[in-house]
Amino acid sequence: MNIVHAMLDGLEQAKVLDRIADPLAAVVARAVKPRTIRNVLSGTAIGHHLHPMLIVVPSGAWSMGSFLDLTGGKDSRKAADILVIVGILSAVPTAVAGLHDWSDTQKEERRVGIVHAAGNSLALTLYTASAVARAKDRRALGVLLGLGGLGAMLFSAFLGGHLSYANGVNVNRTAWHEAPTDWTRVASDADVVEGGRHTVRTNGVPILLLRHEGKLTAMDSVCNHLGGPLEEGTIEDGCITCPWHQSMFRLDDGKNYRGPAAVPQPVYETRVTADGFIELRQPAS
Ligand code: FES
Repeated sequence: MNIVHAMLDGLEQAKVLDRIADPLAAVVARAVKPRTIRNVLSGTAIGHHLHPMLIVVPSGAWSMGSFLDLTGGKDSRKAADILVIVGILSAVPTAVAGLHDWSDTQKEERRVGIVHAAGNSLALTLYTASAVARAKDRRALGVLLGLGGLGAMLFSAFLGGHLSYANGVNVNRTAWHEAPTDWTRVASDADVVEGGRHTVRTNGVPILLLRHEGKLTAMDSVCNHLGGPLEEGTIEDGCITCPWHQSMFRLDDGKNYRGPAAVPQPVYETRVTADGFIELRQPAS
């Protein structure tokens, strides 16, 4: 095991972090519970996760600010100072969206996530101190503090990448699911009763069949947010609610009515044959 893997493994197994992370995550989860807040912070409202979009503003502003500090002459000082302030202002909504996402994680991801947040908080603190030093004309100190902030931000970005690419946080859990493109028989129509749940598997894709108010739905049963079991979800207002973090998907088209799921849930075309069997297929894209 190399030193990077050892460090990441140590963080993931550091149960001592749970003492801070678990109560904090519970507070954040309560604060983001209203549907409107959920939909904005998760990116449901725009159809894309918000946090990874916002990250580019503070990281770009701060890294370019430090780049100008090191390579620009006197003429670029004002631009560097502005970039530091842009980074500070944009770091706040970025952190809020990140806290929202983090509150849905568990165990290893939650531990790495809280260190990721601590690194970003340190970067914000150092860049704020840098801005103050610059305003007081203590340029050398301001540049030095900025470089410290850049280091903290890069370490934190490394952990953020680990969360996404290694731990799979916010990766669409249905991204590789494809039902057959031809009509495929999957169940007897008599097995799918009003209000019941019937799970089948075709092409390796687990599919939830259900009948609500007489209408048949075939929906991917793995919640695209973090993999929750939709067959255990509750149905109301024409939507199914995931039991893990309460994402709501419309039964007729899979649209995500409530986050944290940022993308719609796959729904498949169905038909009932004359001899009483349900067939489904991947909708034509
Ligand atoms: S797994 Fe999070 S809402 Fe379904």
